[in-house]
Amino acid sequence: MTDRALWHGQAHMPTSQAQRLVVTDGDGAWLTTSDGRRLLDATASLWHANVGHGRERIARAAYEQMRRLETYHVFGRFANEPALDLADRLADLGPVQGGRVMLTSGGSDSVDLACKLVRRHWQLEGRPEKTVVVSRETAYHGLHGFGTSIAGLPYNREGYGSASLVPETLRIPAHDLGAALAQLDAFGTDRVAAIILEPVIGTGGVFGPVEGYLEGLQAFAQERDVLLVVDEVITGFGRTGVMFASERYALEPDLVLMAKGLTSGYAPLGAVLVAPRVADRFFDGDDAPMFRHGLTYSGHATACAVAHANLDVLEEEGLVERAAHLEKVLADAVQPLADHPLVHEVRAGAGFLAGVQVVDEVRGDDVAQECVRRGVLTRTIHANTLQICPPFVTTEDEVRLVATTVADALDTF
Ligand SMILES: Cc1ncc(COP(=O)(O)O)c(C=O)c1O
Repeated sequence: MTDRALWHGQAHMPTSQAQRLVVTDGDGAWLTTSDGRRLLDATASLWHANVGHGRERIARAAYEQMRRLETYHVFGRFANEPALDLADRLADLGPVQGGRVMLTSGGSDSVDLACKLVRRHWQLEGRPEKTVVVSRETAYHGLHGFGTSIAGLPYNREGYGSASLVPETLRIPAHDLGAALAQLDAFGTDRVAAIILEPVIGTGGVFGPVEGYLEGLQAFAQERDVLLVVDEVITGFGRTGVMFASERYALEPDLVLMAKGLTSGYAPLGAVLVAPRVADRFFDGDDAPMFRHGLTYSGHATACAVAHANLDVLEEEGLVERAAHLEKVLADAVQPLADHPLVHEVRAGAGFLAGVQVVDEVRGDDVAQECVRRGVLTRTIHANTLQICPPFVTTEDEVRLVATTVADALDTF
């Protein structure tokens, strides 16, 4: 085991090598491991397996596109049909009217693109001092250069020699609107390019928005000429019971970031939906400026074909509505855990996802290990919290099984 070359992401390698869990097969909400165990995937892998594992139809879409044309790039005048069609589809589906879409390879790419584009926007507006990107404490926006710089989880930002890889960043309180606005006021919004936020904080411990926070921040941003970037990498494509959480929380973003549920993990793909306020100038007139951004695999044809098939499944099987229904089933199932002496807090009810925060005296990692031993795959995220975020195809009984397994696992400590 220990001589394998793979360097895991976000891993203490000695521990990960000793405890490596190799998933070999997936079918719906269930996984098989290399040692023959069958596990219920209570985290949808890394929050992405929304339509469930092992879908023949999506695999076929990839095969057929690859046989025809694996991909062709979309730099300059070049394009491919799946990318053109997917961009149109996302512009129609997304929570922004008349927007334009740039495609990426995943969530961190979408974050990087967005942070560059908001700065570019203000340069072109003749407001060159507006360079700072504001994020919330405990936020997670991926781990590229920009995502690292705006990380609200300090351990993801630290250890690179300077306070932030990109210096022009600022963190605000994640839930206290008054404190957040006071800090922004004191800092001076004339220097702020954008506020970026997850409508429901995921990796930071699963926190739905406190009433009034998102609305208040949005109103403030609109008043002060600050762009609003909504990171829907987890929440997009149904996780909160509607296609995008922006709809649920009445947000009007200037940029919407997508990944994960866009393909449910069947191919690496992300997208940024850009509102006309920002995008239009790049599309109109001979003297239109350029946004010098792009990736070899922006608009990868096979990944886009996979996204189409995934969205077809989502729509035809009514899985967004199903997620809305399962939100309540999950909330009812996990709520009793709040009475367990080893549980600090249960957070649910902001979509088909939940966090069970274990008291500091017990390591959440040990509880997660015990759950896996009992057949339910979960893991810990920030704040000693167990992540619960199953695929939308999970049955009601399986949702309840997740909760009872957590309870049984806790009883062993
Ligand atoms: C809210 C959010 N933004 C961005 C990312 C980064 O996405 P990726 O890991 O695909 O780069 C993640 C990943 O978990 C995320 O949860």
